[in-house]
Amino acid sequence: MNFFIGKNGRKGDGRGAAGASAVLSMNAIRKVYDTGAVKVEALRGVDLTVQPSEFVSIVGPSGSGKSTLLNIIGCLDVPSGGSYLLDGEEVAELGIDELADIRNRKIGFVFQSFNLLPQITAYENVEMPLLFKGTGARERRERVEWLFEQVGLADRMHHRPVELSGGQMQRVAIARALACDPALILADEPTGNLDTGAGRDILSLFEQLAEQGRTLVLITHDNALARRTRRIVRVQDGRIVEDEPVTAVA
Ligand SMILES: Nc1ncnc2c1ncn2[C@@H]1O[C@H](COP(=O)(O)OP(=O)(O)OP(=O)(O)O)[C@@H](O)[C@H]1O
Ligand SMILES: [Mg+2]
Repeated sequence: MNFFIGKNGRKGDGRGAAGASAVLSMNAIRKVYDTGAVKVEALRGVDLTVQPSEFVSIVGPSGSGKSTLLNIIGCLDVPSGGSYLLDGEEVAELGIDELADIRNRKIGFVFQSFNLLPQITAYENVEMPLLFKGTGARERRERVEWLFEQVGLADRMHHRPVELSGGQMQRVAIARALACDPALILADEPTGNLDTGAGRDILSLFEQLAEQGRTLVLITHDNALARRTRRIVRVQDGRIVEDEPVTAVA
């Protein structure tokens, strides 16, 4: 049984010719934060295309625009200029409700600080997006239990986040990100709050997801982790200054 494949219509339906089959395609994306007195040019013309099943890391100095870029990819923020096709749809043409809908259906987020709800169990955290989606009780239970097996936490499902280690909390967050079978998983420094060992384990989990054909984009400041992805995009001063496949080291 594989819940991951083929549930979200990754079959080219509704995609315009310009979007081809890319999961995302950005052209000349700019982002200016206008905070009154100062304007910050966080992105200064970014072109980026990610195909299905790619495993991409975004690296670069602090303040270079990585989170800004990931937030725009994830429709948490909108660009100030340029074109952004997500799964063939021009994001600039969508309203707030449509953006929220796209986020829920197509994107799974994993954050540095896990962002789990502390009052409810790990199980309930993972179940939440399925409840919002209106998935029936039986399918919900099967899927949540299966997700916990996938992330290696079946024995901790009914614990609350506070009773889990950082690495375990991040596994729960990854299970939650996968709940609605998104076309794209985005992670902003997912290992940033973990020690080296737990960070490596989380990266192994991402590697497994990549092997299953998931499309993954993650930010990391850890070059060793970045080298375990298949493509490294280096951002500097709001621009992509390098975009290279990772070559296997002998
Ligand atoms: N909401 C905001 N309002 C104003 N400026 C912002 C905002 N968010 C980010 N910036 C600015 O935009 C630039 C890029 O920030 P961003 O968070 O994308 O960097 P980053 O590469 O993710 O850095 P880090 O590695 O420290 O997380 C920075 O100069 C930052 O100060
Ligand atoms: Mg950041």
